[in-house]
Amino acid sequence: MSELPPCDAFVDGRWVPGSQRFSVKDPFDDALIAEVTDSDDAMIDAAVDAAARAFPGWKRRPGPERGRLLAQLAQRMLSAERRLAELCTRENGKALKESIAEVRYAASFFSWFAGEAERTYGETIPASQPGQRLTVIREPVGPAALITPWNFPYAMLTRKIGAALAAGCTIVAKPAALTPLSALALAQLAETVGIPPGVINIVPAADGGRAGGRLCGAAAIRKISFTGSTQVGMVLMRNAAADLKRVSLELGGNAPFVVLADADIDAAVSGAMVAKFRNTGQSCVAANRFIVDASVADTFTTKLCASVARLVVGRGLDPDVDIGPLVDDASVAKVKRLLEDAIGRGAKVLLGAPPDGKTRLVAPIVLAGITPQMQLWREEIFGPVVAIRTAADEADAIAQANDTEFGLVSYLYTQNGARQIRVAEAMESGMVGVNEGLVSTPQAPFGGIKHSGMGREGSRHGIDDYSNLKYIATRIG
Ligand code: SIN
Repeated sequence: MSELPPCDAFVDGRWVPGSQRFSVKDPFDDALIAEVTDSDDAMIDAAVDAAARAFPGWKRRPGPERGRLLAQLAQRMLSAERRLAELCTRENGKALKESIAEVRYAASFFSWFAGEAERTYGETIPASQPGQRLTVIREPVGPAALITPWNFPYAMLTRKIGAALAAGCTIVAKPAALTPLSALALAQLAETVGIPPGVINIVPAADGGRAGGRLCGAAAIRKISFTGSTQVGMVLMRNAAADLKRVSLELGGNAPFVVLADADIDAAVSGAMVAKFRNTGQSCVAANRFIVDASVADTFTTKLCASVARLVVGRGLDPDVDIGPLVDDASVAKVKRLLEDAIGRGAKVLLGAPPDGKTRLVAPIVLAGITPQMQLWREEIFGPVVAIRTAADEADAIAQANDTEFGLVSYLYTQNGARQIRVAEAMESGMVGVNEGLVSTPQAPFGGIKHSGMGREGSRHGIDDYSNLKYIATRIG
């Protein structure tokens, strides 16, 4: 079994035990994995102070030097891939192959931002008056609070830490209470590469609302980056407004997966399997609503059901498993409620059956005959459920796709080049996958519009969220 990291808060380069602890359990069988320090307000304040003290020194370090440390951190993650992946599967439940993919994905953000740390360029602007030089430089916003979810416990943290550290910010991270061990394992690796004390601080906490509120209220924190639900994101934004802190929010989705009449159906099925079943459907970018042209709906559905039927459901640590347990009882209850509502309103079950709620293993289920009134069409499912509606034509598919308050990602399958551009541009979302079921990559800007949030993570734009532009007008003659 994978070795555990220290199970305490990581503050100012030291492991700090707390008098209160909370249990981290395996979602598969509720086996106790660890008792982790529940950071109290004093510990959170100490972490913020440490980040504030470390900030001036970290900010002054040349970007390439900050980048070198991030690159080393990426290497350490990859060297510890198996141990990190097992830890993730134990606390999150996801299939081991998915955890391995996540460790690689997570490390790629450190590698990417190691490079970007060398390129935090400013600009020189031609002045309208003689004798004046106008320059713009980038400065780090200051200590940042990072609040991260349980569904990708490494990647959601490295995407934020990578950008923050590259920009010159120090951080205090509060990982999800269900999955704090992955974050603590990262802190342990950060210690080994010599990231200075106070630059990375991790404060696990059982009550995310209390800890998040404490971080938002801290005057020294100048930036909040949150990945999680839209509801919590709105609360954080209101709290941050009181002190005009910068905010980036990566929130819920309700992704349409559109298959048009001229799609390559086999490619659409392959894309759907990734877009729907990655992490057992527990992803903000999971395909939530399948919108399929009526002329190809039968073919698409039959082929998709054949692929879905091959998925292996079970304990994430078993190497053959594709679909691990859902993370907790509330997630199972939500999927059950959505399915009961849909079936009660006339949805047809083509494959699988609703969960009985006795175990967190939820077998994939495919439904047709969906209507827009059904709750699973309006809410993020976060489970292995395929809900299919037909569309009359391209215009109908676009209208259905955009009929949601969310706007994180959309997926589109068509072989017609002009249509690819036309429909992708009509889709109201921050990202679009065209004949592509997985858009997530460190090189591209990840983020949403509407109720899916604001700000972009990854890519060269990722640095923007952690830096201020400073304009300097200099009289030179
Ligand atoms: C998420 O589910 O929040 C993001 C997953 C990803 O980066 O692909």
